[in-house]
Amino acid sequence: MTGLDAFEARWRDVFSPKRPAAAAAAAATPVRGVSSSAPAPAALAASAFSQADDADSDSDPQRDKTTRPIVGYWYLFSGALVFSIVALGGLTRLTESGLSIVEWNVIKGMKPPQSQQEWEEEFEKYKQFPEYKLLNHHMTLSEFKFIFYMEWAHRMLGRFIGLSFILPGAYFAYKGYMTRGIQRVSLVVATLIGMQGVLGWLMVKSGLSDELLAKPGAVPRVSHYWLTAHLGSAFIIYSIMVATGLRILRSNRKLDLSLFAVSVCAFGDRQSRRALTMRADLVRQPMFKSPSFKTFRASSHGVAGLVLLTALSGGLVAGLDAGLIYNEFPFMGNGIVPEDFWALSTQTDRNPHPISWFRNVLENPSAVQFNHRVLACTTFTAISALWVVSRRIPLVRPARIAINALLGVAVIQVTLGITTLLYLVPVPLAAAHQCGSLTLLTVALWLMHTLRVVPK
Ligand code: HEM
Repeated sequence: MTGLDAFEARWRDVFSPKRPAAAAAAAATPVRGVSSSAPAPAALAASAFSQADDADSDSDPQRDKTTRPIVGYWYLFSGALVFSIVALGGLTRLTESGLSIVEWNVIKGMKPPQSQQEWEEEFEKYKQFPEYKLLNHHMTLSEFKFIFYMEWAHRMLGRFIGLSFILPGAYFAYKGYMTRGIQRVSLVVATLIGMQGVLGWLMVKSGLSDELLAKPGAVPRVSHYWLTAHLGSAFIIYSIMVATGLRILRSNRKLDLSLFAVSVCAFGDRQSRRALTMRADLVRQPMFKSPSFKTFRASSHGVAGLVLLTALSGGLVAGLDAGLIYNEFPFMGNGIVPEDFWALSTQTDRNPHPISWFRNVLENPSAVQFNHRVLACTTFTAISALWVVSRRIPLVRPARIAINALLGVAVIQVTLGITTLLYLVPVPLAAAHQCGSLTLLTVALWLMHTLRVVPK
């Protein structure tokens, strides 16, 4: 066994969740290969990691104190499924397929039409609604089949996510694999998934209303408020899944162990010692108490909030097709602020019944696009500032990788946003921009995770 093997074996021994007593004993033993100048890093780390993040406070002797790693992997898998449904939902909207199925039936809706006659009946139903009458009256049956299958796949994936969360969740709870805290989180997530289905249907219903036929020049599309609520709710479900999955895995030290193992493989003996020392730095209380670190950690939460807010404002842009006007950057017409910013709340001959300023900010496409630009630029500036600050404070390696990745993804996301606008919202660019926003949120969550205080 090489020095490194022994080192890692000892590391695993120390952090094995099943053997807390052995951990303390092992931590006290010096590890070969660790520089003596490092102040007993294994002991430091072991004491700091000795209690799990989601350890259950109530003393139920039947229940493990820590949620099992499999539950953490299940949360991350569910998060990946939510990421894919957001991407598919974006494609469904961009290919204007979202209003093709005009009914909502959880069980019967699973079976697509089988025969020619069933397809024609389904097409007939679609023909009764404004989208066909105003926009698609030249549509053929084969074109209808394409938009039908897009929406059907989106709904089927939604059902699959619901089942693949609820069934294993019930099993894990029954077997006692989760702490009470994680059981409660799982119940909240399951409820949110159910509500997401209801929100989705309310969104579709808003685009089927016959009122659209009465309005001159009306575009048959879903309400941008419902679309944003549906998108925002998906982002929130995703964030809870990723944050909880990471938390559970860290409680079981799986993630830290794999990060450590990767650094050992990649950088060799000297670097592995350094990595361990840096991990010890992470758990050293003085560092957590330093005001600069506290500000940095609080700012990382603020940045994640800003990303979410920018994404919500993007939902309004998408819902109003506001990316099809002012296809230039940074100007909007003659200035940075568009001249028609207050158009809907100002009384003119063309607008005799102005709406309130508040509604104007949320419903006027020019204002909505401007708001998204301002929020996106603010988010980007905040991320850049956080990156600059990160160069001046001591951070563990995973946190440094996370903040660098955050800046990189932000650059890509802003570039994608601007090109989507300049090229009049082509499907591949707009879909990539939508996925970029979720990737940015993921990296922000990861950064927050690497900066969490480990309980003593
Ligand atoms: C932090 C940076 C940004 C984030 C997190 C973000 C997020 C989003 C999100 C979530 C959407 C909705 C996508 C959908 O539902 O299909 C969106 C749409 C959009 N964003 Fe951004 N965005 C950012 C930056 C920008 C920038 C800098 C621009 C350009 C000025 C931009 C232009 C657009 C446009 C034109 C749309 C509508 C695309 C469509 O109709 O599908 N975004 N954004």
